[in-house]
Amino acid sequence: MEKKPKPAFYITTPIYYVNDVLHIGHAYTTIIADALARFKKQAGYDVFFLTGTDEHGQKIEKAAAEKGLKPRELADMVVGRAKDLWKALNISYDFFIRTTEPFHEKGVQKVFQTLLDKGDIYKGTYQGWYCVSNEHFLADDVPLENDGTKICPECNVKATVVGESSYFFRLSAYARPLLDFYEKNPNFVRPQGRMNEVASFVRGGLKDLSITRTTVKWGVPVPGDPAHTIYVWFDALHNYLTGIGYDWDLGKFEKFWPATIHLIGKDILRFHAVFWPAFLMAAGFKLPVCVYGHGWWLKDDAKMSKSKGNVLDPYAILKPFGPDPLRYFLLREIPIGNDGNFSHEGFIHRVNSDLANDLGNLVHRTLTMVRSYFKGTFPELAAEGADDRKVREGFERLQATVFDHYSATAVNRALEEIWVYVNTVNKYLADNEPWKLAKDPAQKPRLARVLYQAAAAIRGITYLVYPVMPGSAEKIWDFLGETEPIQKTTYSGLTFDGLKPGQTIKEPVALFPRVDLKEFLAEEAKPTVPVKPEVKKMEGTMDIISYEEFKRMDLRVAHVLKAEKVEGAQKLLKLQIDLGTEQRQIVAGVAETYKPEDLVGKKIIVIANLKPAVIRGVESAGMLLAAVVADKAYIPFFTDDLPAGAKVK
Ligand code: ME8
Ligand code: MG
Repeated sequence: MEKKPKPAFYITTPIYYVNDVLHIGHAYTTIIADALARFKKQAGYDVFFLTGTDEHGQKIEKAAAEKGLKPRELADMVVGRAKDLWKALNISYDFFIRTTEPFHEKGVQKVFQTLLDKGDIYKGTYQGWYCVSNEHFLADDVPLENDGTKICPECNVKATVVGESSYFFRLSAYARPLLDFYEKNPNFVRPQGRMNEVASFVRGGLKDLSITRTTVKWGVPVPGDPAHTIYVWFDALHNYLTGIGYDWDLGKFEKFWPATIHLIGKDILRFHAVFWPAFLMAAGFKLPVCVYGHGWWLKDDAKMSKSKGNVLDPYAILKPFGPDPLRYFLLREIPIGNDGNFSHEGFIHRVNSDLANDLGNLVHRTLTMVRSYFKGTFPELAAEGADDRKVREGFERLQATVFDHYSATAVNRALEEIWVYVNTVNKYLADNEPWKLAKDPAQKPRLARVLYQAAAAIRGITYLVYPVMPGSAEKIWDFLGETEPIQKTTYSGLTFDGLKPGQTIKEPVALFPRVDLKEFLAEEAKPTVPVKPEVKKMEGTMDIISYEEFKRMDLRVAHVLKAEKVEGAQKLLKLQIDLGTEQRQIVAGVAETYKPEDLVGKKIIVIANLKPAVIRGVESAGMLLAAVVADKAYIPFFTDDLPAGAKVK
């Protein structure tokens, strides 16, 4: 008879940026995906689990430059560390995609070309308000002033309208199709509240999306027009296609596309629930079944993020505890849609109470008794009494409930139910007092029944916690004398009396040591990643920086040799300056306060190691320092006759 092919289940995590090392937030998404992937395998699916890294774009270009590395070197370093972390967390991904892989870049270009041919991508001009001193386009929501101009909210100077040649995706044409799609697929975005958010965003209208840059070099070139690189999000989202074989293993691609779940944090919901399905519709691909936007782990009520520097290093917990306590805590503590506050107290409490006390003790004392009373193999069992039956039936109900919870991505609910049952079994042991039965040889069959019932329950519990704590589950499975790996048992093949009385139970070793909170916190206080000292901030000031950071700025005395206006830019002057060892040109937004002749011969302060920029078409290799009051710049001049190039510190 021909075997029915297993249904496909394709789950993805975001591909993480390689600007810095990963933290517990990234670990969280990846752990959820791993638990769901493992559960689906138990449930008989053919699973593909994809994760990887997002390696192009300005953010990476900049982070690499700051570290004195090439973008590719930084990416290689971070990828190595990411893979180590996934190994330490026991993550069973099937493929790790890097957006710098040639097959990915080719796939992205192919989709880009398809959309270009179709007319869903067209070339135009990106019109935007540009802040010269900040070198960036203002966000759309910066309001117009009364005179019809915009002021840069960061540096408080007038912005100018600038056009940059760019390719656009015709997103505006997809508002209606997206809304129809959401209506027909109300579970496309989960949890439900996020579906509503997304739909109301689209109802507010969609503008075409600029999807190329000429200012970013570190990206996939536009086919046939390499002065443009493809916007990093267009590039990154397509990893979900290229990572399962588009367009290099079409058999695999056909099998697994569309994705069953794109698991993401709520920070990147719009990219996945609006842009991504629009790109896919345009190119004629099927749409993913579900985008699941989980909540954030917070530290001191702020989202943990690399840029904020309030991240928790997963190794601080992995080193003393191994992966399972962390996996359990993150999945047990909050429903997947909610935010959670990470506290060490909360973590230690869960480890001590749920893992060491409830589950750890149950396993340890049960198996130890089977060893010491029966040398590990059950003798004949007394018939099942009412109390014993409850343990069996309780498990059968649990097995069905947990299946439903895992299937509904309610992992915390599954764990809650499992722990209710763990405690029922603990109570069953306390009520039946096997240690007393053991004193009366006539009670041997009864003692065997009680311990068998407990051991069979443990076997079942072990199977149900496997998706969340695979390492510990494999160990307990082995203690129970199972000879086949736990993965060989299917969810539907799991039965309470799958524990064969003839199998030999091994001496258990402790699974979850109890940890003293004070000792743990003392250990934790010795950071493996540098943490910032607490410094009170003055109001209205920016982030506190260290002296090391300040020292990276090369401030010098410069003599102004020549000054002239910049054509068409009211505010700018072009200066030729002497830095002692060399002469340079810089551009400064000081023309409203100074005429060129006011500056010639003056001694000013310049940042000499600022990355050169082109401002309104004019090269600027450095920047002068000036106070800005009511939109006007005031330059501090030295009155002493200082040598050009003297250090300012
Ligand atoms: O956004 N709590 O990458 P990224 C929970 N490259 N989850 C968190 C978290 C926190 N505090 N911090 C991060 C990107 N995450 C893009 C994705 S996909 C085509 C491109 C998790 O490195 C969460 O999954 O900024 C979030 O969506 C993701 O890391 C962002 O990772
Ligand atoms: Mg981010």
